[in-house]
Amino acid sequence: MKNYEILPCIDCRRCKNGDLVCKIKDEMQELYQKMHEADLVIFGTPLYWYGPTGKMKLFIDRMRPFISNGRLKGKRGVIAVPSEEGADACGPLMEMFSKSFDYLGMEFAGSILVKAYEKEEIKENREELERAYEFGKSL
Ligand SMILES: Cc1cc2nc3c(=O)[nH]c(=O)nc-3n(C[C@H](O)[C@H](O)[C@H](O)COP(=O)(O)O)c2cc1C
Repeated sequence: MKNYEILPCIDCRRCKNGDLVCKIKDEMQELYQKMHEADLVIFGTPLYWYGPTGKMKLFIDRMRPFISNGRLKGKRGVIAVPSEEGADACGPLMEMFSKSFDYLGMEFAGSILVKAYEKEEIKENREELERAYEFGKSL
């Protein structure tokens, strides 16, 4: 997602009528297809001001067609977030995802909320890596 061109949702409501796709032609079209084919979607974003990055917010805004077409219903979603402050600071972000999953009919399958500020710092944290590995296996 990070390297894809994603333009802002303009609330044109075109996705509510008929063909249930987004009329904005950018690389989000490729991501719609990938999400449609997936059983599970991992939303990974660093914590920026207690929420997701601007890029992740653009992505979430563009998920609007999935409300009409229901193509995410029953799929599982995972949240992965590194931050300076750690899990305790992720409340607002988790609430936003939780409400959005409910709205889309997705099932919350768990989260990885880790303290990791410096580049590659996470590599030194064996405990969190092990926990993430076991969580991944359980999925
Ligand atoms: C604009 C900006 C806002 C941030 N806001 C928060 C924040 O609210 N809480 C926090 O714990 N860390 C915050 N951070 C720190 C990042 O979450 C942290 O650097 C993260 O590990 C970066 O992950 P990355 O190495 O994958 O980019 C912020 C960083 C930036 C650049």
